[in-house]
Amino acid sequence: MSISTLHEQTKDITDLILKAKEQAFKETDSEPEPELTHPLKWPIDLTIGPGLEGAIACETKIGYVNGRKGWLVYRGYNIFDLCAYSSYEEVSYLLLYGNLPNKSELEQFNKEIIEARHIPNTLRLMMGFPIQDMNTMASLRIGVNMLRQRLNWRDLAEAELDITIDTDEDAIPQEVMPYGEEKAIYEFKKKSDSVHKPSKARETMDDGESLDSCLHLIGAMSTLTAAISRIREGHIPIEWNDDLSHAANLLYMMTGKIPTPIEERIMDVALILHADHGMNASTFASMVVASTLSDIYFSVGAGIGALNGPLHGGANEQVLKMLKEIGTEDNVKEWYKVSRENKKKVMGFGHRVYKAYDPRARILAPLAEYLVSGNAEATEYLNIAKKLEDEVTESLGKEKGIFPNVDYYSGIVYGCLGIPEAMFTPVFAVARTAGWTARIYEYMENNRIFRPRAMYTGGFEDKFKPMDER
Ligand code: SDX
Repeated sequence: MSISTLHEQTKDITDLILKAKEQAFKETDSEPEPELTHPLKWPIDLTIGPGLEGAIACETKIGYVNGRKGWLVYRGYNIFDLCAYSSYEEVSYLLLYGNLPNKSELEQFNKEIIEARHIPNTLRLMMGFPIQDMNTMASLRIGVNMLRQRLNWRDLAEAELDITIDTDEDAIPQEVMPYGEEKAIYEFKKKSDSVHKPSKARETMDDGESLDSCLHLIGAMSTLTAAISRIREGHIPIEWNDDLSHAANLLYMMTGKIPTPIEERIMDVALILHADHGMNASTFASMVVASTLSDIYFSVGAGIGALNGPLHGGANEQVLKMLKEIGTEDNVKEWYKVSRENKKKVMGFGHRVYKAYDPRARILAPLAEYLVSGNAEATEYLNIAKKLEDEVTESLGKEKGIFPNVDYYSGIVYGCLGIPEAMFTPVFAVARTAGWTARIYEYMENNRIFRPRAMYTGGFEDKFKPMDER
């Protein structure tokens, strides 16, 4: 379905986004912060706090987060407009190439992203791991490693694989050949070099920096995530449907159902909202790895590792656990009182940069509201969430500028779309792969290895002690 047809059929969602934009404009102007939006002349003097607070890592044109006023911009476009009028495919193109695609550019981009979703051999390999028992982000990282280590051409339809293993079924592989009769012979009978390597196969590691690799990762991440979800639910992966958009295909491969236009649109808006967000921990982690000239697959693997943390992308899953723990609206006040006494962090609130309402939460909250109708359990979670939001913004909001962030309502939205809780953070990674790869690609144009210092406060010239004097 084309973007215009989808938007035609989901005008309610567009109206809801524009209403949120109007509210945001009422509460604050979108004037950029002059000290954070000008070209750099290195070296620069800065006041830096713990956790590199206030540090500037590089110059970028990809995206800007106005933390004081609660605005988010991708390549000059305001996030509200991108959610109201664009699609995840267009936004991924925008982040990578710097401009919104015209018709033919979008067609070509879609073709490559759709092809990148086809990873049959990587999925086959994935199923050799205990995915059903693993942390979902650990599984995702295995998948990304596999994409790279198999030099990805082996996922292409043309490449025939013929690796057979001859073994005596009940034999145990032995390090050394057993004496006497041979018990177990593991042989990889690989076809000789006649294995058909498609001409476009990328073989050297250095093309791990290419734009092709960025598109490969953006496309394949959705298939990996959906496959992990299916395997965890005891099913085999569902094959991609090339007629569907990125958002619709993700939901289809995960749930086995073709999403309604409303479900597809809301998934698409959620992917746009999670696509990029400045120098967040996972983006910075992926850039640090890339800055050593390692390749983009390892970099995205580092991003996955960082995003997994509950202080970062893992918060969306923790929020739902927290809402379940609170249980009812009546419990909110007491729960929050105890949480404050124990100095516990409320999941889904607070942000290193936003000291105003996260614009993404401004859109995700009404989306959640729209989706929960008719779903008693989700409605209960939303009511608890809204009551807790009032409590927190009334106190921590006023005292420390702590408001809902992107993770606070996303879990309720994902749950209504049929996404299992354990998959919330991998779905965040599906979206963020666009921002990770775009920022890596931009930084590599003027790369310098990231290498901060640490303040040493240890001793000097201690006399070495032999063991019997210690
Ligand atoms: C994401 O960076 C990004 O852009 C990330 C992200 C993206 O798109 O990539 O936006 C996605 O990660 C969103 C954040 C998801 N995480 C959570 O919801 C977890 C809960 N939030 C907190 O852990 C915290 O707010 C952080 C990690 C998000 C930010 O931490 P900071 O900037 O290091 O702030 P801090 O821990 O130093 O807190 C400052 C003060 C402390 O109080 P004092 O010691 O000064 O008295 O604010 C308090 C904190 O206790 N505080 C909270 C709180 N967050 C901060 N108190 C209660 N609940 C919270 N959630």
